[in-house]
Amino acid sequence: MRDRGSPQGRRVVLGITGGIAAYKAPELVRQLRAAGAEVRAVLSRSATRFVAPGALAAVGAELIDDEDTGMLHIDLARWADVVLIAPATAHLLARLAIGAADDLLTTLCLATEAPLCVAPAMNRVMWEHPATRANHAQLLGRGVLFVGPGQGPQACGENGPGRMSEPAEIVAFLERLWSETGVLRNIPALVTAGPTYEALDPARGFTNRSSGKMGYAIAAALAEQGAQVVLVSGPTALAAPPRVHRVLVTSAVEMREAVLAHRDGLRLFVGAAAVADYRPETISPQKLKKQADSLTITFVRNPDILAEVAQWQPRPFTVGFAAETEELESHARTKLEKKGLDLVIANPVGEPGAGFGEDQNRVTLIDRDRTVAWTAAPKTEIARRIVTEIIKRLPRNTHA
Ligand code: PMT
Repeated sequence: MRDRGSPQGRRVVLGITGGIAAYKAPELVRQLRAAGAEVRAVLSRSATRFVAPGALAAVGAELIDDEDTGMLHIDLARWADVVLIAPATAHLLARLAIGAADDLLTTLCLATEAPLCVAPAMNRVMWEHPATRANHAQLLGRGVLFVGPGQGPQACGENGPGRMSEPAEIVAFLERLWSETGVLRNIPALVTAGPTYEALDPARGFTNRSSGKMGYAIAAALAEQGAQVVLVSGPTALAAPPRVHRVLVTSAVEMREAVLAHRDGLRLFVGAAAVADYRPETISPQKLKKQADSLTITFVRNPDILAEVAQWQPRPFTVGFAAETEELESHARTKLEKKGLDLVIANPVGEPGAGFGEDQNRVTLIDRDRTVAWTAAPKTEIARRIVTEIIKRLPRNTHA
């Protein structure tokens, strides 16, 4: 098993105990996976009365066999970035309070150094019973994090405290925990994404087919790791990712101004935008009328934002993209060297399944020491892996 604390930061051991709310566990797993987490599920013996293990596997959880007699509890305890128990019965709280270790779940809870979150679920009278109150207080005192319980109608027909928090509330709790404990906690980062639009007249202009998906996925992946992300975006149809501050721009000149406005303290820059290298020398105030059979337009150079950022003193860790149609590696390496970048992500454009507008991409990572080609994958997955590679390379004082 991979050791705990690797940059991914979202490894969840999900303990499921025998409360009726366990039927919500597959939905909780689905939402955790959508939030970029890996989930290993440990079911108590009574939990299987309420949730079929196959339903958990079907939504992407890795089922852990409680009968394993090896060092599994230690392996899991070290793998986990968080141990979440949902639902957590009154009996489970009591066993945690006394430090029981009579099954895999309670044993790994004793062995782990990861945050322990519990989502209680029980009848309202059981929740308010002095024994449960005492266990709750004792566990709070030891730093156990409680999600809920909520108030409301209960499976037994009664109404009151003790209802397990909804999966979305539990995931939102972990998102907050991760953003406060993410590897890039509070590191200022800026990502450019999308195309630029270079106006010719009020009705026409020049742009490209960038959808913004790659840059938005990187911004989202950085925010997942707790970075303070500014996303400077050209025109796209995409919504801003959660916990990302988006600045919408149109032209390359505007994009540069937005980047400069966020220069102070910036520690990481990722240039994923397809920035036009040229713009029309003149923007006509009126719509150009059809006249001669041909039209000649003079273009002038746009600022090279990435190259400029890489020259800042002090400068952020600077990552560029390279959109190539041929000789991908050599062209990308030239960009790395000529612009003085820390890392270049090269991708082919003009072929199906990669580049502009696609949900997938196929990238090659190039830095001073090596070239690593990855196979095609969804841009969201590639973005998380790029962020992991960036985290490995960031100067040590940049980490939270
Ligand atoms: O947005 P999607 O539809 O998801 O498509 C993703 C993408 C193909 C646009 C993306 O993966 C990508 O390759 N982005 C860079 C596109 C580009 O402009 O590549 P380039 O090789 O022309 O530019 C090299 C680098 O310089 C890039 O980091 C670019 O952001 C930057 N640049 C370029 C020109 C300029 N005037 N200023 C810049 O900052």
